[in-house]
Amino acid sequence: MSSNHPEAVLDDRFLPALKKVPYPGFDSDIVTMGLVEDARLVGQKAVIKLRPLAAPPEVLEQLENSIAAAFTGMPGVEELEIIQPEPPKPQKAPVPHAIEGVAAVVPVASGKGGVGKSTVAVNLALGLAGLGLKVGLLDLDLYGPSIPLMLGLVDAQPEATAEKLMPITAHGLKTMSIGFMVDPGKALIWRGPIIMKAVKQLLHDVAWAPLDVLILDLPPGTGDVQITMTQEVPITGAVVVTTPQDVALVDAIKAVDMFRATNAPVLGIVENMSYFICDGCEKRHEIFGHGSVEPLARRLGVDYLGELPLDAKVRASMDAGQPIVEQTAPSAQAYRELAARVWERVNKLLPGAEVK
Ligand SMILES: Nc1ncnc2c1ncn2[C@@H]1O[C@H](COP(=O)(O)OP(=O)(O)OP(=O)(O)O)[C@@H](O)[C@H]1O
Ligand SMILES: [Mg+2]
Repeated sequence: MSSNHPEAVLDDRFLPALKKVPYPGFDSDIVTMGLVEDARLVGQKAVIKLRPLAAPPEVLEQLENSIAAAFTGMPGVEELEIIQPEPPKPQKAPVPHAIEGVAAVVPVASGKGGVGKSTVAVNLALGLAGLGLKVGLLDLDLYGPSIPLMLGLVDAQPEATAEKLMPITAHGLKTMSIGFMVDPGKALIWRGPIIMKAVKQLLHDVAWAPLDVLILDLPPGTGDVQITMTQEVPITGAVVVTTPQDVALVDAIKAVDMFRATNAPVLGIVENMSYFICDGCEKRHEIFGHGSVEPLARRLGVDYLGELPLDAKVRASMDAGQPIVEQTAPSAQAYRELAARVWERVNKLLPGAEVK
């Protein structure tokens, strides 16, 4: 017997098969995610017990089917039993529960790295604050936090009370990042249970209240941080960022599927680095093959939230800790419009919410 999870009891013979089973919509397998509680051979029957999961029935069924497929034809196994316990009551289990005093939670996600999630998250948060809303920005990219740099807060150090960690207030936002507390280079080696604990604490143990909306800047892909987020907090609606390149579009589909697999609404897809307007000629250059994202959104049945230009000023402003949306540059308007579109959709999903 061996174990990949502190409390799991997993028969070695089953590990290769179980490690081939991804959680529906995610990249990680169910063993790595710590979702298998017990796997053993009883006579000729493989008995697999999963951890209680807060997931829609069709996702649980898909998971059962994938496990069954992975065990088909395994020598010495004539029968398979999959035990899926009901999720325990809220006080006992990490089932999603609202962050006290926070009306809406909006993650900014992408399947692919470097498409501009953090840039969008920061400027979206500031754009929403510009609408008069109380806004928080949580950097959940524990592997490579970029919010401290983008907000010009690399030396900020949050204070803690006995109960809560105090967010840093800057640019009219409340913000928190693991980058305020640890050397970003060290954060890269975090894995599994530590990531899960950190995500939980950043969501629930920071003094966010009162907020109209909390924006979450996610790492790329569909891994530990994303699944913990969906298990810890109800998501109002996600914003998926992509560039118009084909490879990024495949990843955008993955990101949309991930939210669907956990019943979280998707507010829409935003197309970053969509076109380039050069300083000299003022012509619009569509370098990545503009026009592919809107049809994709339609096909996926999610809203198209618009396009953001590729602009050297965007990069320079973010590197300088002076986000573009605070500048007078023409690109700033695209981010303000994005914020207005996002808030309009959040309003529809939140009974009682109104633009202030
Ligand atoms: N519209 C844009 N115009 C010019 N540069 C941009 C634009 N959007 C993002 N960038 C630049 O591209 C780089 C990657 O952006 P960003 O860090 O926001 O991406 P990310 O998706 O958060 O990356 P990661 O997956 O590493 O978290 C940054 O240097 C940023 O300044
Ligand atoms: Mg980022």
